[in-house]
Amino acid sequence: MQDRYAVRALSNFARRIAKRARPDSRTEVCRSAINTIKVDNAKLRGYNTDGKGFARAVRQEFAVDLRDLRVMILGGGGVARAIALQCARENCERLVITNRTFVTARKLAEELREYFTGPRVLGPVPRLQAIPWEEAAIRFQIAHLDLIVNATPLGLNRSDPSPIPARLLAPHLMIHDTVYGEGRTPFVSAAIEAGARAANGSSMLLHQGALAFEIWFEREAPIEVMRGALK
Ligand SMILES: NC(=O)c1ccc[n+]([C@@H]2O[C@H](COP(=O)([O-])OP(=O)(O)OC[C@H]3O[C@@H](n4cnc5c(N)ncnc54)[C@H](OP(=O)(O)O)[C@@H]3O)[C@@H](O)[C@H]2O)c1
Repeated sequence: MQDRYAVRALSNFARRIAKRARPDSRTEVCRSAINTIKVDNAKLRGYNTDGKGFARAVRQEFAVDLRDLRVMILGGGGVARAIALQCARENCERLVITNRTFVTARKLAEELREYFTGPRVLGPVPRLQAIPWEEAAIRFQIAHLDLIVNATPLGLNRSDPSPIPARLLAPHLMIHDTVYGEGRTPFVSAAIEAGARAANGSSMLLHQGALAFEIWFEREAPIEVMRGALK
């Protein structure tokens, strides 16, 4: 358990340093949010491992690739941006972004528009969309989605409500809650109540940490040792 907090502390520490230190270069993905810093020839290089870590976690938990999924992301902060960019780069079927502050969701969708100009046709719903965080708007989307991702802190506190109540969810959905911890998060509980498949953020934590390890040490991460440490 202490190791789990060590991984989170490292990640939070990197974000804080990144904000102050203005790393010398960033990979393209890092336009969204740096969570890993490496000192390279006396220069600080910033990376983001959340997006790829998320993609690996989805593959591990649900045995599917992002390119085959219609995805809705809840949130517009650093993690939501990294996940949205990863979905876009992997050419997901559809991407819907909703956020408490709607203008942030709309801005993020606009930044990603260039990725969604391809020929895929999905009927009456747009491939890329920002919607208000409102029950009616979310209810309309459910039939046109496969995966819903919580990228807000809702669930960090046990007393938090599920970001989407169980009555709006449906059995065909996959739910990925980036929030991790002991036991079920409120979103995972709501998903299970609705008959959907669900995973919390532990596997994303593992994979984004493994990717950071690979950046720092330039060798394959001891993934099973890390998985064991998170239990
Ligand atoms: N599993 C992992 O490996 C991993 C790694 C990093 C983070 N995380 C999880 O991701 C979460 C988000 O991290 P972040 O860095 O993206 O945070 P952030 O940049 O502060 O963004 C937080 C987002 O959540 C929204 N939000 C905050 N409180 C809310 C509420 N009460 N109701 C609805 N929306 C709310 C904010 O909306 P506004 O724009 O309206 O303020 C914003 O879009 C963390 O809390 C953590 O649990 C998981």
